[in-house]
Amino acid sequence: MTHALDTTGKTDLEEGVVDRDIFVRDDIYRQEIEKLFTRAWLFVGHESQIPNPGDFFTSRMGEESVILVRDKTGVIHVFLNSCRHRGMKVCRYDQGNTSLFTCPYHAWTYATDGKVRGIPQYQELYAGVLDREKWSLIEVPRMVNYKGTIWASWDEKAPDFETYLGDARIHLDQALDCRDGRPGGSEVIGVHKWVFPSNWKLAAENFLGDSYHNPSHRSVDLIGIGPSARTGVKGRRDNELEMARHVWISFAAGHGVHSAVQAAGAEYVAQFANDPEIEEYFRHCHNERNARLGDNARLLPFTGTIFPNTSYHGRQPRNLCVWHPHGTTETEGWRFFLVDADAPTKVKDFLRHFYMRYSGPAGMTEQDDMENWLYATKASVGTIARRYPFNYQLARNQAELDPEVNGLTVRGRVTTKMTEHMARGYYRRWRAYLDGAGWDELLGQNDSRFARRAPEAAE
Ligand code: FES
Ligand code: FE
Repeated sequence: MTHALDTTGKTDLEEGVVDRDIFVRDDIYRQEIEKLFTRAWLFVGHESQIPNPGDFFTSRMGEESVILVRDKTGVIHVFLNSCRHRGMKVCRYDQGNTSLFTCPYHAWTYATDGKVRGIPQYQELYAGVLDREKWSLIEVPRMVNYKGTIWASWDEKAPDFETYLGDARIHLDQALDCRDGRPGGSEVIGVHKWVFPSNWKLAAENFLGDSYHNPSHRSVDLIGIGPSARTGVKGRRDNELEMARHVWISFAAGHGVHSAVQAAGAEYVAQFANDPEIEEYFRHCHNERNARLGDNARLLPFTGTIFPNTSYHGRQPRNLCVWHPHGTTETEGWRFFLVDADAPTKVKDFLRHFYMRYSGPAGMTEQDDMENWLYATKASVGTIARRYPFNYQLARNQAELDPEVNGLTVRGRVTTKMTEHMARGYYRRWRAYLDGAGWDELLGQNDSRFARRAPEAAE
């Protein structure tokens, strides 16, 4: 079988090279939309965005518009945002509250549970012809509320979401609920949305744990707010990471993370501001987190990606970011910022300002990253450029697998040396989706690299 990755013979994942065509060719992009985004679990939104009956948030799954809505009985649904009559978007607002979705075209009306509620002139024109029960909004067949985050898949046969996450779950958990004392206690305080001229995969692979790109953030490092800042936010990174060991982890289903494992018994170190109230709150969180998670509280993820297009920052700034595809060379980024729902207003305000400085279209680090992705995309469109593949050989066959880190057993393919094995694993799964593989293969269940007791060979 010819893989989409291999059509020109320039991709070799064992060797660590990937054909640029997969970032710029329209026919390969169409395969992604049809074979990948119709099957994988995709992040849609957060329950805190729709707390009341009738609340809705218009989201996306791949190229498709979907409505995340809480019906009048409190049940959450995800519907295709397209009228069953002639396809018009039934909801053109970003978010709001409604008891009905009325299509602007011919005014078919749907209740918040998706059922047809009204069709103009039904008795005169449709009676005995159209069965309203059969023309509800199309509902995504698989949906899960995971610690407040809503994920969905169009594939009825998809494994349950926790199986899909596999060993990546504990790392995602750090982003979702680990700053406060109780699971699922986060809320979204804002969503940044912006469009940038890049292929969506460049953003997703960056968050798999491409820590090699830190030179890009040199300017923000110098003023103390960059990812590798010496001073950080009042030195937060150096302090928090005292005696921590960095780890790069690839997961069987294509997810990846760059994290760190703090030394056992590390004390909380004041780090967030010259404000005792804020400091006290984060000290409280640190203690609650240790009490609840035990040893796993020592995991401090920087960035991760849940295959295929949901990335996260696992510590402050704590957020999820979705890279929505808009064609080969355009992506829409949506970054959902999380805070503890019961944090004092002062803490939420402090974090809001920090998030705005750090991330999103106007954030100082995000701007650095986007420059790279958009110029790399633009420079790969040309006929000559496309003759030469991208390089993913970093630490290939060098990084020893090391599941014991600072005395903590960490699952997945774990190394304490910077590597690009996360990206190599990501593109292996990407290729399997485009090949129409079964879920065993998509989850990497037969991939000996992830066997629990496999020889600890480096890749
Ligand atoms: Fe919606 Fe006709 S397209 S009512
Ligand atoms: Fe970056």
